[in-house]
Amino acid sequence: MKHFLTLLDYSPAEIQHLLDLAIRLKKAYKSGGNKPILQGKTLALLFQKPSLRTRTSFELGMVHLGGYALSLSPAEVKMGVRETPADVARVLSGYVSAVMARVLRHEDILELAEYSTIPVINGLSDYNHPAQALTDLLTILEARGRLAGQRVVYLGDGNNVSRSLLFGAMMTGVDFVLASPSKYMLSEEDFEMADSIKVDGAKFSTYIDPVEAVQNADVLYTDVWTSMGQEAETAERLRVFPPYQINNDLLKHAKPDAIVMHCLPAHRGEEIASEPLDGPQSVVFSQAENRLHAQKAILAHLLASE
Ligand code: CP
Ligand code: NVA
Repeated sequence: MKHFLTLLDYSPAEIQHLLDLAIRLKKAYKSGGNKPILQGKTLALLFQKPSLRTRTSFELGMVHLGGYALSLSPAEVKMGVRETPADVARVLSGYVSAVMARVLRHEDILELAEYSTIPVINGLSDYNHPAQALTDLLTILEARGRLAGQRVVYLGDGNNVSRSLLFGAMMTGVDFVLASPSKYMLSEEDFEMADSIKVDGAKFSTYIDPVEAVQNADVLYTDVWTSMGQEAETAERLRVFPPYQINNDLLKHAKPDAIVMHCLPAHRGEEIASEPLDGPQSVVFSQAENRLHAQKAILAHLLASE
């Protein structure tokens, strides 16, 4: 069974295929609409955490491709409380063609995949956010014309979003830089994994100093300092992360035409100031729109009979 749980399950050629597919689907959508290649297919969207972009892009992605999607909120399923992920997987396998799940614990999405007979798509876990990373690669490709050799600097928390972006970067020849306080870096295990999957030309480096990190950057990227589920750590995180804020002063140290990215939702005034988020170098809202196109590529790849 094909799933979409992590970019690591895909080869660099398959990632390239998904990006090409996203570009084709976006073009078709903008010039009259997509063909109903998922007619008769259904998707359940299962959420243990809130969402705007993930829900909307997957749900409308299904609609645009001729299928149907059903959104299930945390309160109505209570996965892990009312019943196990394994039982949820067995039940949904009888109802729908695929499940997209946003889970608190990564183990839960692995359990869903293990017990389902239909494709499972990861819509964010505490470990990763591969659907976001695919979108980010698409956005960089569109804005900069290429991925290979682009210096992508991620500032802030070594979290789910940065982990998937690191892996995606290594599979597409990106020069990835992570600038984080040492306590919040991605782990040695993540860097060993990155090393083992990197294609020719891809490289990564880490910095503590944000100003050094952004020298020569093509892309500045950030995400919230406190992810969903980490709210108890907010005060400490607010003390440690302020030097990593993307603001116009930091942006001056990047290439003059560098782009600014954020997966959203943004905490304006924390990880990013409003000026660069709303300014001419920001591609943040095209990036948000690209969720729709990249998610359609995942759905078409998993569900369309080609
Ligand atoms: N970037 C992202 O996943 O947004 P949502 O949490 O709104 O889905
Ligand atoms: N790192 C954030 C991303 C939200 C899309 C979180 O997990 O809350």
